[in-house]
Amino acid sequence: MPRQRAEYDLQDLSKLIGEIESVKRREQLTGLFRHIEKHCDLSKLPASCYMHGSYEGGCVDHSVRVTKVALELRPIVAPLISKDSIITVGLCHDLSKIGFVTKNGIVPRYLRNQNFDPNQFPSRNNRPWFYNSSQIQFPLAVSTAIIAAKWTDLTWAELQAITAHDGQYCEQNKPFSHHETPLTLLITMADTWSGHVIEGCIDQNQFNKESDLLSVNESYGGDEHRNNNSSET
Ligand SMILES: [Fe+2]
Ligand SMILES: [Fe+2]
Repeated sequence: MPRQRAEYDLQDLSKLIGEIESVKRREQLTGLFRHIEKHCDLSKLPASCYMHGSYEGGCVDHSVRVTKVALELRPIVAPLISKDSIITVGLCHDLSKIGFVTKNGIVPRYLRNQNFDPNQFPSRNNRPWFYNSSQIQFPLAVSTAIIAAKWTDLTWAELQAITAHDGQYCEQNKPFSHHETPLTLLITMADTWSGHVIEGCIDQNQFNKESDLLSVNESYGGDEHRNNNSSET
């Protein structure tokens, strides 16, 4: 069953920002999230209408989780990637889920569905949130990249990691394929794992289904199948 409650909150987000070594970058991210909190209740916002992270606080929960997963992977697979970059991209990669963050305020991406029934599982027909159709439409990662670049002094590698973080799930990411930086690949992995597995759109029990644990030969009847079909080419 997909996760229904946030594990991480604004305190976890602030703690991660506090781990940024560059003073300039730390101040930029602090300023950005202070500005966001001034204009909306970030602690309540979701990460989607009804899929992963559609619960209260899902947006912060997801962003912190992606950052933590990437930081955990870093010493194993990518020790040369800067920790500051991972924290910046991890916390900012879905900024646009909050909405259009401008100097004067925020146009929210999601609006509460007053008819949502909390006693029933969130689904397409029982969504806790609706898209705000009055916002100008952009691919989420593109508007996120624009907002992040406006508020922080991003490197090109960080900009690519934000823009292409959905990997090849998105048709518009084709131009990035085989040209991803290590940071992009790391964030894509952390985001996909967090959203699909930890937040539960993929039920982890699916990985242990009896049929999936059979060897390919066993699923065809093993030796018996081989013997019966030995003359086949
Ligand atoms: Fe995303
Ligand atoms: Fe994400």
